Order: sequence, then structure tokens, then C-alpha cells
Amino acid sequence: MNIKGRSFLTLKDFTPEEIGGLIDLAADLKAKKKQGIFGNSLAHKNVALIFEKTSTRTRCAFTVGAVDEGGHPEYLGIHDIQLGGKESVADTARVLGRMFDGIEFRGFKHSTVEELAQYAGVPVWNGLTDDYHPTQILADFLTIREQFGRLKGINFCFLGDGRNNMANSFLVGCGKMGVNLTIIAPKSLWPQEDLVELAKGYAAEAGSTITITEDMNAVEGQDVLYTDVWASMGEEDKTAERVALLRPYQINSEVMAKTGKKETIFMHCLPAVKGNEVTEEVFESEQSVVFDEAENRMHTIKAVMVATIGD
Ligand code: CP
Ligand code: NVA
Repeated sequence: MNIKGRSFLTLKDFTPEEIGGLIDLAADLKAKKKQGIFGNSLAHKNVALIFEKTSTRTRCAFTVGAVDEGGHPEYLGIHDIQLGGKESVADTARVLGRMFDGIEFRGFKHSTVEELAQYAGVPVWNGLTDDYHPTQILADFLTIREQFGRLKGINFCFLGDGRNNMANSFLVGCGKMGVNLTIIAPKSLWPQEDLVELAKGYAAEAGSTITITEDMNAVEGQDVLYTDVWASMGEEDKTAERVALLRPYQINSEVMAKTGKKETIFMHCLPAVKGNEVTEEVFESEQSVVFDEAENRMHTIKAVMVATIGD
């Protein structure tokens, strides 16, 4: 895999071999860190971390990942810089690109991360937009591989808000990597048809299936049940309406049992609203791997930085 100098905006831009290569690199960096072995591939590299929205995992993953490899991360909160207020996205991109070797962006519009990438002249990494959260998928796929020893052919089911950044990203990621994806959501929260068609095209090539349904019986036979908050960042005003709409899609013990498989794992990108999309009982159960996922954010984000700007 050689993705030096490239931005990481969505998984659409990467081949299955490149995505698999990033997961392999992350697994290798993780194993080395556990043995106390650190690389130096980001020495003298400075990375800018722009956050329009709040973050625990993504911010910390970029920070720790960069420092582990000898790099310097600089956090730029939305109130710290001129972006969006006094200075345009294109000008900010050109300024930061003159000083930094890579730029992470988390925020609202996906077009902002695209514009940063267009003008920065250095790799730009998407740390979550309203539409996509691609680094989360790498962490989740590493976690699934650790649990099942493979990705291809895994039956993966996403429940809840079927048109948010996580569902969109799983459509692309599962399609590319040959994971069978089922999204269970009310029709009003189904993903956009053109994205589903794109994902079905990827899946046909990889030999997997993409299913969108309202039917909770579709949890039968699933290896992974995954959920996310019912109202994403920026949609807080929709919380009450979503809670009413999505209540039947909560992952609880009955839903876990309904898979018919004892080995089924529970996953969540976090942060979670316990009592809404998942019960406390499932969250704390043996089947829950949510903190492995959280840890793997760091190893996979480190891999993205090493692969795109590392020496
Ligand atoms: N999963 C995730 O992106 O977490 P943060 O919002 O804390 O970064
Ligand atoms: N869909 C969630 C993901 C958080 C990591 C959000 O955008 O808030």
C-alpha cells in the first residue's frame, strides 16, 4: 500500500487493498506499542487538528498517535482560529498548508473538508463531518478482525439513524470490504438512494450484500449489532422526535438474543446515550467491545498519519 501524500476524506477514494493495508498497519503499530516499541516516522512533522464540533476519542487519537511517532499535534478549536469568521476555508487551508504537514478537520459541512483538501497542498484527514466518519470505520474493522479473525463475510447490522455519518460510512466501508451490511431503520431515516446504489456496486464486486429494512427480525444471524446516537452533533433539536421514532430500534438483551448467536458482539462508536439506542445492560455486557473500538481509534488514526505523511 502506498498512499503517501493523499488526503483521507471518505473510504470511497480508497481500494479494498488500501483499506486493508491501513488496518494491517494499525494492527502492527498496536502490537509494537504493546511491546514498548515506537517508531519515529512523524519526527519533525506538525499536524493541525481543527475541531468545529467537540470530540474525546478523535482528538485524543490524533494527539497521542502523532506524539507516539515523534510528531507535534496542534489543537485548533473553532474559537481559537479565524476559520469561518474572518477568514475563508480556502485561505485558512493555504496558510495552514504552509506551516503544517497534515491537517485534521472535524465539523459540520462535508464540503468544508473537501475545500480544505483542495487548497491545503498537504494531506487533509476527515475527523467526522455531517456526512462521513471514515476513521471510525477503520477502528471498527480492526476490532471486528480482532474478534472474528476476518472481515469478509461477517454479518454486520446497523440499527437506528440509518442516514447519519456512521450509516453512510458503513455503506461505503462494508461494500468495499465484503462485509454483509444490514441497516435496520424507519423508512424516514433510510440512507440516500444514490449512496445505497454505490454501496451495492462495491458489494457486488466484493461478494457481499447490502440490505436496508424496517424489520427488526433482520437481526437474526447477525455477527455484529452496531448502533449510534439517535441525534447526532448538530441535530440536538431533533432529540425528542428521534427518541419517539427510534424506540423500537433500541439494542437490548432481547434484541441481542434474537440474533440466535452467542458470539454476536455489540459495537458503538461512542459517546452513547444509555437507555436510548442501547441499554446499560448490553453496553456493560461481555458481548460489548466498545472500549476496544475506542482504543483502536488511536492505532488506526496513527496508521492514517504514518501512511500519508510518515517517513
Ligand atoms: N467516536 C468518536 O468519534 O468519538 P468523539 O466524538 O469523542 O471523537
Ligand atoms: N453520529 C454521531 C457520531 C459521533 C462519533 C455524531 O455525528 O454525533
